Amino acid sequence: MKPTLSPMFAALVAGLLAALPAQAEVTGNAQAGAGKIAMCIGCHGIKGYKSSFPEVYHVPKIAGQNARYIATVLEEYRKGDRKHPSMRGIAGSMSDQDIADVAAYYENLGKDASAAALPAPRQPSTEVASLLQKGACVSCHGENYSAPIDPSYPKLAGQHSDYLYAALKAYRDDTHATWGRGNPIMAGMAKQFSNAELKAIAQYIGSLPGEVKTVPQSRFR
Ligand code: HEC
Ligand code: HEC
Repeated sequence: MKPTLSPMFAALVAGLLAALPAQAEVTGNAQAGAGKIAMCIGCHGIKGYKSSFPEVYHVPKIAGQNARYIATVLEEYRKGDRKHPSMRGIAGSMSDQDIADVAAYYENLGKDASAAALPAPRQPSTEVASLLQKGACVSCHGENYSAPIDPSYPKLAGQHSDYLYAALKAYRDDTHATWGRGNPIMAGMAKQFSNAELKAIAQYIGSLPGEVKTVPQSRFR
């Protein structure tokens, strides 16, 4: 009976292996990542660069962001949980190793001593404070919105406010083919607020001193 059982067993093992997260075995190498960012800097390496879809907002700052978060969201674009078309196309062309290397590269980019000495954040208005409290935002995104409790969660402080606002709205709606985000944690968060409230939150968090930045880079380094 053994010969008939073992192919089934082999198939079961193969199925279990395929179900394991591929990322688990991939370690990012920042130096290798430096050779793989040529197609990123045309948008993420230009200060003030804006995207025009689905509305006009600044391309997010990714230098100094957590590597684990960068890798997680590149996988989300690749899978289609995040639907921004250009980022889907770009992430879709990357291997697991490319993603890990580029994530390691960007986490280190622009890191310097000044990061350790961020100035104290200004206090929010009472209105914004109560919105932030309602969402318990700091409980996940951490002190000053720049020390998330898990490395797969983003640093938010100092990110472009117009991008934060667009991102928050994107989590509310996952039903379109070319825009929206399918993250269940943030969908629940964003749905409790009106557009005006999300905008006020985004303006405050974007105004805080933070570690994420855009490091200008030329294609001809
Ligand atoms: C054509 C312009 C463009 C190019 C090229 C580009 N990006 Fe993006 N990227 C964007 C835009 C716009 C967004 C915001 C998309 C959204 O709203 O979800 C984004 C989002 C991201 C995010 C999510 C940031 C966050 O805070 O969640 C990461 C990470 C990222 N890009 C990494 C990369 C990397 C790595 C490359 C190169 C391999 C790259 N991008 C190339 C425009 C670009
Ligand atoms: C339970 C934990 C948790 C709470 C509470 C939470 N977040 Fe998040 N947040 C996350 C996670 C996880 C992500 C990454 C989701 C993804 O993969 O797209 C995220 C992503 C975001 C993003 C997208 C950042 C980017 O660079 O694209 C914004 C903006 C954001 N959160 C703002 C908020 C605000 C404002 C609140 C409070 C109203 C809040 N979050 C509360 C866990 C949380």
